[in-house]
Amino acid sequence: MVKEIIVFRYGHREVRDYRVTSHCSMVARAFGASKIIVCGEKDASMKKSVDDITERWGGPFKVEFVNEWEKELTKLQEKKFVLVHLTMYGEQIHKKEADIKKADKICIIIGSQKVERDVYKLSNYNISVTNQPHSEIAALAVVLDRLQDGKELEKKFRTAKREIIPQERGKKVISLK
Ligand SMILES: C[S@@+](CC[C@H](N)C(=O)[O-])C[C@H]1O[C@@H](n2cnc3c(N)ncnc32)[C@H](O)[C@@H]1O
Repeated sequence: MVKEIIVFRYGHREVRDYRVTSHCSMVARAFGASKIIVCGEKDASMKKSVDDITERWGGPFKVEFVNEWEKELTKLQEKKFVLVHLTMYGEQIHKKEADIKKADKICIIIGSQKVERDVYKLSNYNISVTNQPHSEIAALAVVLDRLQDGKELEKKFRTAKREIIPQERGKKVISLK
């Protein structure tokens, strides 16, 4: 059974990828991952905007930066993380999800710039969400939902300072101690 899911963002470029990496981080947090490891340029402003969300809306969720993808992914494999690389060329998620879900710990790899061949080789699975080109944000959301059977939709966020009370119409937000 899956106990921990983290996300690895490959090839982040500070200016160009700011918005998409921020959105991937928000999706990772909201859909139940505990951390995003950003490989590429260290982007303090992107981390701050995600940390601010975690501070207000709860966690736990961490943003970390690394320089060398191969070293980091190898280290994760040594820690028994199963590496699931999302690519439109991969095997279809709905055909492989039952297998992947047998893992305790999963690291989902998403690209930004072109992903090197060796990432495909090192990964335990190369997985597609449709075999059409789209977005790492969408692919990440679908895969996180599939791997957790929708249970992440009920996740409680610890240390939250505020919480939304769902409404048929309008907005209701309460402050928490
Ligand atoms: C928008 S693509 C850009 C790819 C890059 N421009 C290139 O030439 O390789 C960025 C990332 O989105 C994800 N992605 C896009 N389409 C996907 C699909 N159909 N299934 C799974 N992941 C996908 C992959 O992780 C990919 O590395």
